[in-house]
Amino acid sequence: MGTTLSTLAYLVASVLFILALRGLSHPETSRQGNMYGMIGMAIAILATLFKPGIGFGGITLVVVGLAVGGTIGTILAQRIQMTALPQLVAAFHSLVGMAAVFVAAAAFYAPESFGIGTRGNIKAASLIEMSLGLAIGAITFSGSVIAFAKLAGKMSGAPITFNGQHWLNLGLGILLVVLVILFVATGSGFLFWMIALLSFALGFLLIIPIGGADMPVVVSMLNSYSGWAAAGIGFTIGNLLLIVTGALVGASGAILSYIMCKGMNRSIINVLLGGFGSEGGVVAGGGDVDRPPVKAGSPEDAAYMMKNAQKIIVVPGYGMAVAQAQQVLREMADLLKKEGAEIKYAIHPVAGRMPGHMNVLLAEANVPYDEVFELEEINPEFADADVAFVIGANDVTNPAAKTDKSSAIYGMPILDVERAKTVFFIKRGMASGYAGVENELFFRPNTMMLFGDAKKVTQEIVQALQR
Ligand code: TAP
Repeated sequence: MGTTLSTLAYLVASVLFILALRGLSHPETSRQGNMYGMIGMAIAILATLFKPGIGFGGITLVVVGLAVGGTIGTILAQRIQMTALPQLVAAFHSLVGMAAVFVAAAAFYAPESFGIGTRGNIKAASLIEMSLGLAIGAITFSGSVIAFAKLAGKMSGAPITFNGQHWLNLGLGILLVVLVILFVATGSGFLFWMIALLSFALGFLLIIPIGGADMPVVVSMLNSYSGWAAAGIGFTIGNLLLIVTGALVGASGAILSYIMCKGMNRSIINVLLGGFGSEGGVVAGGGDVDRPPVKAGSPEDAAYMMKNAQKIIVVPGYGMAVAQAQQVLREMADLLKKEGAEIKYAIHPVAGRMPGHMNVLLAEANVPYDEVFELEEINPEFADADVAFVIGANDVTNPAAKTDKSSAIYGMPILDVERAKTVFFIKRGMASGYAGVENELFFRPNTMMLFGDAKKVTQEIVQALQR
């Protein structure tokens, strides 16, 4: 394949990647988006395989790499639980970061292969791009490993902080810039590895103070970094597709981080400086405040009340994902619709543990898209709802976000479930949500707690409705 043809193929692949992102922005078009992405990647790989000068050795390496990586990816994708996706994504980002480090090393030790000069005599522009790709790649690698460990519970999700932490990070950041300048001036191999080492340390130090609750934002930010690292490497090796794809990943990751921060009413600086959130599990009512007793009901009570309801708003949260209750939830909604009730689903932008978490689960259970509403659209409707059916959600309903200035979630927009005539909360006990903040809604007179696993309780409601 000639150079013009491969450039053209790369252009087509870039357009398909853009269409993929566009498709992925809505559940209805997401499968199509995925398909565009896969076709784009297949074209990119084929164009690489048929590039002039790749040779038999090069083709063999690509094919073996594809076979090994493809097999591991397929097995992981089949085995992974939906709730474990955030840590899987973090683990994958670490690999992207490491790949950027390897490519930078390859370009440094074999510059002839990349057409950027000869050993010890590499163009200054290439040295700049290489060191940026190396630094961002190494930061992405160690940062993602820590994000993975925190999300997977392999290390404590609590923020790890110490005195002078931010000054240390700032100092190391400045040192990194100095090392990059010296490296570009001298092209020294020693400085190359010093940049790598310092960046690995910086990635680790930047992520340890960030609490588990903020990890999804961090994962999306690291996603953005991995994109910029790839784009930097794309400049070094003169690969247009890598530049375009890297920039797409970099920009979309940054936008996603911004949307999540907005959903939590936090600034990105506040997230990055860390120290927010606990590992969850604070037991409500355990503090000094005198609380009225909690009203607990049975699935039969809930079934009876919902049978007579006209408007029901379902609020799914992380607990629904843990219990995998989406399918039985839809069965319950179908039965209630037969009884004449109107059902709507309210989605908070940060419900669950990753963007779009609830939308994906509801789509998997074939919940009609026109029954699913975003926070701003649905909030005014709670006031005329008979029932707010909160299934495994907690923080996203907590009114402390509106009233308690001292609360960690103060300012976060929330779903106004308490305005419904009756609020059901399905959860296993009185524990707090991910932000570790007590939810006083549990003690309100119009709240009924339905204690138990979300799937099991909903199944029992379905059985009661069928009787
Ligand atoms: P949470 O506030 O974390 O509450 C989930 C509740 O589900 C828990 O209180 C838990 O109570 C319950 N639960 C767990 N397993 C269950 C099961 N098997 N059956 C029934 N209930 C179960 O979730 P949320 O309301 O979805 O809020 C999301 C939180 O994550 C927010 O704090 C948000 O800021 C944070 N966050 C999310 C994102 C994204 S992008 N989604 C990004 C950053 C941060 P029990 O233990 O008593 O059962």
